[in-house]
Amino acid sequence: MAKSYILAIDQGTTSSRAIIFDRDLTPVATGQEEFEQIFPQSGWVEHNPEDIWSTSVAMCHQAIEKAHISPRDIAAIGVTNQRETTILWDRKTGRPIHNAIVWQDRRTAPLCQKLKDDGHEPMVRDKTGLLLDPYFSATKINWILNEAPGALEKAVRGDILFGTVDSYLIWHLTGGQVHATDATNAARTMLYNIVTGEWDQDLCDLFDVPMALLPEVKDSADDFGVTRTDLFGGEAIPIRGVAGDQQAATVGQACFEPGMAKSTYGTGCFVLLNTGKTPVFSNNRLLTTIAYQLNGQPTYALEGAIFVAGAVVQWLRDGLKIIRDAAESDKLAKAADGTQSVYFVPAFTGLGAPYWDAESRGAIFGLTRNSGPAEIACAALESVAFQTRDLIEAMHEDWGDEGTRILRIDGGMANNEFAMQKLADQLQAPVDRPHITETTALGAAYLAGLSAGLFGGPEQFARQWQSAHQFAPKIKKSAADQDYAGWQLAVQRVLYKGD
Ligand code: G3P
Repeated sequence: MAKSYILAIDQGTTSSRAIIFDRDLTPVATGQEEFEQIFPQSGWVEHNPEDIWSTSVAMCHQAIEKAHISPRDIAAIGVTNQRETTILWDRKTGRPIHNAIVWQDRRTAPLCQKLKDDGHEPMVRDKTGLLLDPYFSATKINWILNEAPGALEKAVRGDILFGTVDSYLIWHLTGGQVHATDATNAARTMLYNIVTGEWDQDLCDLFDVPMALLPEVKDSADDFGVTRTDLFGGEAIPIRGVAGDQQAATVGQACFEPGMAKSTYGTGCFVLLNTGKTPVFSNNRLLTTIAYQLNGQPTYALEGAIFVAGAVVQWLRDGLKIIRDAAESDKLAKAADGTQSVYFVPAFTGLGAPYWDAESRGAIFGLTRNSGPAEIACAALESVAFQTRDLIEAMHEDWGDEGTRILRIDGGMANNEFAMQKLADQLQAPVDRPHITETTALGAAYLAGLSAGLFGGPEQFARQWQSAHQFAPKIKKSAADQDYAGWQLAVQRVLYKGD
């Protein structure tokens, strides 16, 4: 029994979670706590880093207690995290010098626009696989360094450290002994060259970021030090796995072969397609990123992000108030009159990939006197399928005819039968929902256990992966295409065309 458990810390955008997995990678116990979202101005989103730290540690304790195990039984810790969110802290005191600027924050849009106007986007894209957008860490670091008094000078001297949430947690877990990140998180900073596998001087110059700030970049399954002994009853637990949450889900879904993709449905939706050992650069405004890095070898992915997926169901519940809980949307949508062509473009905060239109706003089209809550719920859920098809089609174009062979789904909305059936219909391909839907934490736990020598290589893990339910297409391609054509028209009508 000794040292046969893995503790996965899943530090997300709205809550911190800790999950204990046993030797068979079965989840045994979970602790979860939400924390405050800070909105200082319109379009700005911050977290207090101390909340991130305290809730993460508290949830570790809670999960250990609920699992009725002792810290002594834990072989390794895996960390997975909301990506891009930027924290700068004082090397001596460990105290943050500013609130964390969250990935959703748009405050650096003017700087991104200026750099784009000055013609820097192609260089940034070629080195990082990313677009010049406030989403990523680089311009957030620049903003904090210019905002906090004396920060830039201190940073040059190496007295201030930068990290995404994983680095910040590792630093504190190890009592300031380790300042490190993994390649998947580094790939989201817009300072890391994903082709050469190193921090890039040109990018650091472009964003005025002193290199002394940056953490060491390691594999996703690697040695990230041991925990301070006062945290977990005198034990020094090794931290052995780290990956950004969407990449950890890709691992948890065992998408280890080129052509395998996963789609995670939370507030938004992130699709990652494994493209193998060479990066594929998108002509369709998808991102190129590192899916995971093992033994110094990165495996690359194409990534598409949709801003509103589960959030559209929240809006049906809290905004329109036509359902009482998320599960009701399924039943209501099934009662819709199938002869109506109602389309809902949920561009509440603009549209993500492949449109990247920050200015467009939501709209519902095709209403008649017979349209009611059921048709609106149906259109809302269908929008999730259509948006996923937008991403998958873009992936097909970027990656050739092979396209995605396999799509595995997870996240809360993966349990919505209506939406997932529509997804299979639109993709004209099967969609698989696994037994363990805690795929993000599972991926981090697997990486940690792999590096700790508890588990075999990816092929072995892939063999264990099991589909609990497969959604197969139930309509003909011609019917799916006709529905999709209506969606494309609706999107064209909301895209921002300027004044
Ligand atoms: O890129 C942002 C993503 O990592 C956030 O994921 O699940 O915390 O909303 P989540």
